[in-house]
Amino acid sequence: RTKRQAISAEPTALDPSQLTDVTLTSYCKSKESNELIQRALMDNDFMKHLEHGQILTIMDCMHPTSLTKGCCVIQEGDDGSTVYVLEEGMVEVTKQGKKLCTIGQGKVFGELAILYNCTRTATVTALTDIKLWAIDRQGFQTIMMRTGLIKLSQYTDFLRSVPSFQSLTEDILSKLADVLEETHYSDSDYIIRQGATGDTFFIISEGQVRKSSDEQVPVKTLSKGDWFGEQSVAHFALLCKDIFVLLVCSAAHLHIFPRSFKQLIGGLDDVNNKQYDSDEVKAKLQAEADYFSSVT
Ligand code: CMP
Repeated sequence: RTKRQAISAEPTALDPSQLTDVTLTSYCKSKESNELIQRALMDNDFMKHLEHGQILTIMDCMHPTSLTKGCCVIQEGDDGSTVYVLEEGMVEVTKQGKKLCTIGQGKVFGELAILYNCTRTATVTALTDIKLWAIDRQGFQTIMMRTGLIKLSQYTDFLRSVPSFQSLTEDILSKLADVLEETHYSDSDYIIRQGATGDTFFIISEGQVRKSSDEQVPVKTLSKGDWFGEQSVAHFALLCKDIFVLLVCSAAHLHIFPRSFKQLIGGLDDVNNKQYDSDEVKAKLQAEADYFSSVT
């Protein structure tokens, strides 16, 4: 199971409406430099969860710069304006005069102030002449934000297409889209093991899920647009048939929704109107409905 989370979620200094007007400039690079930058971004703890498209766009927009030995690249406490990848040479990282580490070729630095909208957490000094790839704060945040906006609109469109959600207002749909996380499973992964408990609400956006186990309950296949909450499915084991994607909303987020939404995802309409395989299944779905309705 892999989880992808947009790192852009933290507040940015820029107004999103400004970001849509920013023009991103791409800079030509050798194949080796492209690979070095890509590897550096994917190796960085704070950036490796970025989407592949974001990594490629950042790589594309990085421009070359160089500094001589002894130069201060970043000063602790300053406002951050650039994220760097070191192409050649070595830098030293210090905090309040104490050495933290040295950084060599193929590493990212200067990402923290940009990602977390804080001042520079350390000083970075060139130990040798250095060659760098750089991207400025506005370009970086634009890439983050644009991807986030595209995702938001894709999720909202998808939710609008789910029959159960068609009576939701645009406002609720976009709030729900905003808190969804995308989770990928591979063939034969279990989503929930029988007997597990939890507080997560799942919507299938791609592929198929098979409910299995529990001898009396027939195996049931769920597909795109179907949704389930753990309260009822905790009694089932779920197994996917193909590679698929789930959009996940944890109960921790449900407090932001009005009661009407919670009742809806509690499935009251569906529970009342659907044909069920057995009274037991209906009872389990009713338990799920009650659970989600009670989340405040
Ligand atoms: P930023 O805070 O933007 O600017 C200083 C950079 O130094 C910081 O981002 C990191 O990239 C890097 N840095 C800070 N602390 C450490 C550390 N303990 N180890 C390695 N690099 C660090």
